[in-house]
Amino acid sequence: MMNAEQVLTVSLGERSYPIVIGAQVLATIGKHLSEVSAIRTVALVTNATVAAFYLKPVVESLTASGFAVQPILIPDGEEFKSAETLAMVYDAAFAAGLDRGGMFLALGGGVVGDLTGYAAATFLRGVPFVQVPTTLLAQVDSSVGGKTGINHPRGKNLIGAFHQPLAVVADVATLLTLSDRDFCSGLAEVVKYGMVLDEKFFSFLEQNAHLIRQRQLDALQQIVLECCRIKALVVEKDEREGGLRAVLNYGHTFGHAVETLTKYQQFTHGEAVAIGMVQAARLAVMQGHGDLAVVDRLTRLLQIFDLPLALPPFSADEYDRALRSDKKVREGALTFVLNQGIGTFSFVKINDVAAMVQQLVKNHEIV
Ligand SMILES: NC(=O)c1ccc[n+]([C@@H]2O[C@H](COP(=O)([O-])OP(=O)(O)OC[C@H]3O[C@@H](n4cnc5c(N)ncnc54)[C@H](O)[C@@H]3O)[C@@H](O)[C@H]2O)c1
Ligand SMILES: [Zn+2]
Repeated sequence: MMNAEQVLTVSLGERSYPIVIGAQVLATIGKHLSEVSAIRTVALVTNATVAAFYLKPVVESLTASGFAVQPILIPDGEEFKSAETLAMVYDAAFAAGLDRGGMFLALGGGVVGDLTGYAAATFLRGVPFVQVPTTLLAQVDSSVGGKTGINHPRGKNLIGAFHQPLAVVADVATLLTLSDRDFCSGLAEVVKYGMVLDEKFFSFLEQNAHLIRQRQLDALQQIVLECCRIKALVVEKDEREGGLRAVLNYGHTFGHAVETLTKYQQFTHGEAVAIGMVQAARLAVMQGHGDLAVVDRLTRLLQIFDLPLALPPFSADEYDRALRSDKKVREGALTFVLNQGIGTFSFVKINDVAAMVQQLVKNHEIV
């Protein structure tokens, strides 16, 4: 039997909003949005890949609930999360007559969500927007929490704003059309939540790993719900990343180094995060925060999710340099999010990054 739809609330005072999660919720999106807002004019941003599957049902449901919808199509790909595409979205929104009484809707993955959210944050000094995430990464991570933005030639996500959505509507049935690679990449972020914030959830993932990997809808709904619940708690405590929210960077320090060294060509973000989590777990053992059994449980789960584990073959020097180029380095020291066993974490400052990397690379065969 299919689960009914479920609703969570992100509690941020007047910026609070619902996250609606279910299979086939796209068909009732008009009803959900009319419950959260009186706005009836929508600039719907998506790309051709997503539009081919989901534009029609979304427009039909919205129109049936009295919304006037203007679709805006942007090209598909991370390279289009750019100032040029943003300018195109502004132009299309003006051409459609969108004013301060209207809103944006992002239908797609993290690229569409981040760019549309930033368009909404800045268009006419800010209009509301709704997130309709259609990738696993977007449903469990990027659509919740209000980080919006675009890339700059100098680096990823360097231009942006905090702008919370009016609502998030996550239809887990949309995950059935994702490529295997995009689906599994999203699972890396799912595992991340369990590793540092919720041991029970980690065990759930272990017990249901094969069902999840096969995209069984009830299992998908449960993981999206749990991840959104965990992320909402973190965001409620630290909306603008003054402290706690940085826990969500678990696995990302090494992950970013891997992405940089491979020039963003070899691995997806999630794959790099999977490799990064394995390194963080090994580092935790080296620092006395856990034992190798934890590394073992992590690697076994990532393997079922078809994610890579091993550091690509660069020298310790190259890793050292890539880690130091991270924007989070302060005066040579690097602060890592390390798991403590499974389900809790600590921020650990590593002063001698070079020595730490030497040891990790040298002992690499233990993975
Ligand atoms: N704002 C945040 O807090 C936050 C957090 C994490 C990541 N991000 C950002 O998210 C982006 C990555 O997001 P992503 O992994 O979703 O990538 P993406 O948006 O590029 O989507 C991946 C691919 O899947 C396609 N697609 C989307 N939904 C589909 C569906 N249901 N069926 C078939 N194909 C579908 C897309 O067109 C694209 O080709 C990055 O730019 C990253 O910086 C933001
Ligand atoms: Zn990530």
